[in-house]
Amino acid sequence: MSASETQGRVNGKVFKDEVHWVVEMLLGDCPRMGTLLPFQLLAKPPQRVEVIVADSQDPLTTYATSYHTPIMVGEVLEHLHLFPGALILDGTLGGGGHSEALLDAGARVIALDRDPEAHEVARVRLERFGDRFRSIRANYSEAPRVLAELGIDRVDGMLVDAGVSSHQLDDSSRGFSFREGGPLDMRMGPDGETLEELLSRLSHGELARILNKYGELKNAGRLAGVILDAWQEDKITDTASLASIVATVGSKPGRKQTINPATLVFQALRIALNDELSHLERAVEQVPEVVKVDGFAAFISFHSLEDRIVKQGFRELANNCVCPQGLPMCACGARSMVEIITRKPLRPSEREVELNPRARSALLRVAKVI
Ligand SMILES: C[S@@+](CC[C@H](N)C(=O)[O-])C[C@H]1O[C@@H](n2cnc3c(N)ncnc32)[C@H](O)[C@@H]1O
Repeated sequence: MSASETQGRVNGKVFKDEVHWVVEMLLGDCPRMGTLLPFQLLAKPPQRVEVIVADSQDPLTTYATSYHTPIMVGEVLEHLHLFPGALILDGTLGGGGHSEALLDAGARVIALDRDPEAHEVARVRLERFGDRFRSIRANYSEAPRVLAELGIDRVDGMLVDAGVSSHQLDDSSRGFSFREGGPLDMRMGPDGETLEELLSRLSHGELARILNKYGELKNAGRLAGVILDAWQEDKITDTASLASIVATVGSKPGRKQTINPATLVFQALRIALNDELSHLERAVEQVPEVVKVDGFAAFISFHSLEDRIVKQGFRELANNCVCPQGLPMCACGARSMVEIITRKPLRPSEREVELNPRARSALLRVAKVI
């Protein structure tokens, strides 16, 4: 089979070009499988799998799987300044794409994720790297404790690729999807409160604050009222019914609606439920505790709420004096802990966004520990 005979889809987008194609097949149904390597099998027979046939030189396609397509791989590798044997903490293992790229580049990787499913998938994918790869189910905000338990003082670099993986979003049984009905769950891992439990206990004011703060929804009060009324009347039984209830609340006349309101409501609930922003804030604060002097920390965020946390956190770490303005000389004795490498966040190339539309809102910021 030659590339030109084939076309395929990634995230619904059809590719006809010779290098970036994806073959969908049933396991065992491809007599010439040997010609399709390299690929990862992420499902057990007889599930349908997507096999990504990659240009081995191109980080945009090499590490993509149907579980998740890692974002800005080339930029991450470049900015972590890897050297053979460098020890990197991947705080967000997901499908293991970034971890694999780091391992291929010669690093050793300790990978964390809250989601046991991510660990199962990545363990199979990365087992060929032996003890150069370790995965531990933990929150990335607990990185200092995890490293201490492993007897490691600090690592040579760290990566956090915040938010959820494509698999978490697309697998309706996880309850993140508003397009298909799924349970009112939305947890990244098996611990903590489910969406059902959250909706059962929130007051109107609390829900409105969540929708306003994490979804930046202007009509948060009205939305909260409609959602909680429907909840009391047992009309919200799954994620699809929640999305339908949200759709009944129109935007204010004259205001152009560019994003589906269900996207923002689901984003807000997901952030609140998983306490995503507090963990991110702690992870940024802890960079000097986790990364050695001269090592680099890279954070990829997907919306302005996350990016603001990374930007302000880096600024605080870079700020060498926290004395009130107007003092004749510094009395706090604080010193800069990091040098900010990216004054402005880096964004994915046009080609990356074309290949993977989910990359479009990604923002990468990097700091060096000094
Ligand atoms: C965008 S995906 C990462 C994808 C990954 N870089 C790859 O190449 O496949 C985000 C992952 O981080 C995990 N995650 C999100 N917040 C976390 C946190 N505070 N601690 C640990 N894992 C987290 C999610 O469960 C998800 O698997």
